[in-house]
Amino acid sequence: MTVSPARPSPTVVEVALGDRAYDIVIGRGQIDALGARVQALRPGARAAIVTDRTVARHWLEQAEASLAQAGVAHSRIVVEEGEGSKTYAGFQQVCEGLIGARIERNDLVVALGGGVVGDLAGFAAAAVRRGMDFVQVPTSLLAQVDSSVGGKTGINSPQGKNLIGAFHQPVLVIADSAILDTLSPRQFRAGYAEVAKYGLLGDAAFFAWLEAHHAEIFSGGAAREHAIATSCRAKAAIVARDEREHGDRALLNLGHTFGHALEAATGFSERLFHGEGVAIGMVLAAQLSAQLGLIAPDDATRIRHHLAEAGLPTRLQDIAGFAQEGLADADALMALMAQDKKVKRGRLTFILLKAIGQAAISSDVEPALVRDFLAGKLADPA
Ligand code: GLY
Repeated sequence: MTVSPARPSPTVVEVALGDRAYDIVIGRGQIDALGARVQALRPGARAAIVTDRTVARHWLEQAEASLAQAGVAHSRIVVEEGEGSKTYAGFQQVCEGLIGARIERNDLVVALGGGVVGDLAGFAAAAVRRGMDFVQVPTSLLAQVDSSVGGKTGINSPQGKNLIGAFHQPVLVIADSAILDTLSPRQFRAGYAEVAKYGLLGDAAFFAWLEAHHAEIFSGGAAREHAIATSCRAKAAIVARDEREHGDRALLNLGHTFGHALEAATGFSERLFHGEGVAIGMVLAAQLSAQLGLIAPDDATRIRHHLAEAGLPTRLQDIAGFAQEGLADADALMALMAQDKKVKRGRLTFILLKAIGQAAISSDVEPALVRDFLAGKLADPA
């Protein structure tokens, strides 16, 4: 008889949303507990796994084996990898797949993948049969610390990213930190930008810890789990007090106003991953904050040094093909920022830093000042 090695006990973080509260279960090997947790949460429910081709190659069999072992009947819907699936066509494929598999209201959708799969499967779960429960099994660092938690689901419109969607909370998140061993170093680094974000926006001690321990997070083990759990705790606390982003939840957009414009300018392509855009965006937000007299210039420099040390791009000039497609043009970047979801009555919202660990929401930064700031960064990246 073979005895499987004991799975280390996971760290469990609760997202406290009253009767919609749920757990984020974090730890190595936790994908093997998927079936038992689904069975305990919804006895007798069937599960439809939504995943993409690449994730399916690595993890689908293991997820299905876990469900089978717990006696959970299951089916699968496999979409193409990448943003191309976060479309009306991708949404139709998943919805029709769920209906075709006779997944009923009391059954469960399991989103097994990165941010694209989580957003797409979550939105289909919000819509099919007017709303079904879903479980997130995030397989990228970015999804484990950000997109799988908090209930933002959706797809892209040809006119912009994430413009169609719904708030629909999962009933469980399983973040298996061992799955991250198979990520490319670049994907891992991009997710790390969102980890650093939690230190910058609300936890100076965590940022200092990251400065000392980031290499251990990349190599796995206890530091990685601690970083994921601390990030999830920070996000869970913000989501619990402002689920629908009427206030504090906007703090999670630190670096995103600049970052989304850069992603749009690079066509949401491999030239710039989301987390890389956020890294550059956070540095720009810190430098703009310093220019406005909010944060000490030395702290803005410290932020840039840390992200660069982690291997992330920190300057506009670090983007592949920087001189092409409006990237080197402050007016073009301003026009892209004006398309952002965070624009309210024509005013751009920026998340600024008063200190490392202290962010503030501002919608009164003069556009002309931002334009001149960007023009300055384009001329002199320092
Ligand atoms: N990713 C930002 C949020 O969940 O609000």
